[in-house]
Amino acid sequence: MTNIAKGLEGVLFTESKLTFINGAEGVLTHLGIPIQEWAENSTFEELSLALLNGQLPTAAQLATFDADLKANRAIPDALAQVITHMPRGVHPMQALRTAVSYLGLLDPQSEDTGAEARRAISVRMIAQFSTIIAAISRAQEGKEIVAPRMDLTHAGNFLYMLTGKEPTAEQTRLFDMALVLHVDHGMNASTFTAIATSSTLSDMYSCMTSAIGALKGPLHGGANEAVMDMLDEVGTPDKAEAYINAKLDAKTKIMGVGHRVYKYFDPRSRVLRDYAEVVANKEGKSTYYQILETIEKVVVERIGSKGIYPNVDFYSGTVYSDLGIRKEFFTPIFALARISGWCASVIEYTGDNRLLRPDAVYTGVTDAHYVQLQDRQ
Ligand SMILES: CC(C)(COP(=O)(O)OP(=O)(O)OC[C@H]1O[C@@H](n2cnc3c(N)ncnc32)[C@H](O)[C@@H]1OP(=O)(O)O)[C@@H](O)C(=O)NCCC(=O)NCCS
Repeated sequence: MTNIAKGLEGVLFTESKLTFINGAEGVLTHLGIPIQEWAENSTFEELSLALLNGQLPTAAQLATFDADLKANRAIPDALAQVITHMPRGVHPMQALRTAVSYLGLLDPQSEDTGAEARRAISVRMIAQFSTIIAAISRAQEGKEIVAPRMDLTHAGNFLYMLTGKEPTAEQTRLFDMALVLHVDHGMNASTFTAIATSSTLSDMYSCMTSAIGALKGPLHGGANEAVMDMLDEVGTPDKAEAYINAKLDAKTKIMGVGHRVYKYFDPRSRVLRDYAEVVANKEGKSTYYQILETIEKVVVERIGSKGIYPNVDFYSGTVYSDLGIRKEFFTPIFALARISGWCASVIEYTGDNRLLRPDAVYTGVTDAHYVQLQDRQ
C-alpha cells in the first residue's frame, strides 16, 4: 500500500537555516533566537535584513538597509493610477496581487533571476508593499493616496500612509511588534508556494504574486478576520462562556485556536496576550479582550488536551482593530510582514535550487480507448 502524505504533512523537501518551530513545546526561533526576544528587542527592518543575510546585521549594515528601504518607499505614478482605478469593493488581497504583478511590469530588472537581482528586487518589494497596501486602502475609501515619509520607521510610515496622521510612538512600536511576529513561519503554505514558483527559475514578482494568492485563502491568512467576526457575534463578555460552550458542544471549529504545527500555546499569541494585558492594566479591559480571555479559558479547559490552544490570530485582530485598521486589511498586513520571509526563503532556496515536482498516485482507469464524439452516450 503506497503512503500518501496528504497535505504534504511531515514531508521534508529542503533544508533551511531561517526558522525553527517546535510545535509540541510552543517554540519559534529565527536564526536560533526566540521570537519573544525578537519581539522585545528588534524591529521589522532588522529581522527582515537578518533573514535576507542569514545573520544578525551590524549597526552599519542595518543603517544601509534602512536607508535603502526608505529610498524605495515611493511607488511609480503608473502603479498609483492603476490602484486608484481598481474597481471599488474588490478584496484588498485581489488588489494587492494585481498591484504587485503590475509593479513587475514597471521594473526593468524584473526578468533578471540572478542572485543579486533577486536581492535588490526583494529590498524594493519589502519597501513598496507598505506603500501599495496603504494606497489600496485609501483608494478603496475614495481618499487621496498619501505619499510616504522618509523620517518614519517602516511601521510608523505605514500607519501614517494608511490614516494620513502621524501615529504615536506607542502605536508605532505596537504595530512594529505585530509585524515582527508575522515575518516568517517556516514552510507555511504561502512560503512553499513562493518557493515552488522560484524553483522553475521564474522571476521574483511571479513568486510573490503566487505567494499572495496562497495567503489569501481563509485556511491561511484569513483567520484573524474570522476571529473579529466571532467577537462581534458574541457581543458582550457575559455571553462569551455560553457562546463558546454551545459551539464546542456542536463541534464547530472556533476561529483563532488550533494549529497544524503548534500543539501547545503559539508563542506569538503569548507575546500579543502579554501586550493586551499591559493595555488592560493601564486603560481597563476592552470588551474584545474580556471576551477573548473567557474563550481562551474555556477552550484550554475543554479541548486543550487535544492540543488545541490559541494561535497568533487569536489576539492579532484586536491589536489591529485597536490601531483603527479595518478587518479586510488584516490579511494584506500579514503580507506586509511576510514579504520579508517569502523573499528570504526564495533567496535561500534558489542558492541550491531543484525544481519542485512531486507526484500523485494514479487511481484512474488504465484500459480505456478513445471513443468518437458521435458514438458516445
Ligand atoms: C488550523 C487548523 C486547520 C489545524 O487543524 P488540524 O491540525 O488539521 O487539527 P485537526 O483538525 O486534526 O484537529 C484535532 C482535533 O481538534 C479539534 N479542533 C481543531 N481545531 C479546532 C478548533 N479551531 N476549534 C474546535 N476544535 C478544534 C478537531 O475537531 C479535532 O477533534 P477530534 O479529534 O475530536 O475530531 C484548525 O485548528 C482550525 O481550523 N483552526 C481554526 C482556524 C484558524 O484559527 N486558523 C489559523 C491557523 S494559524
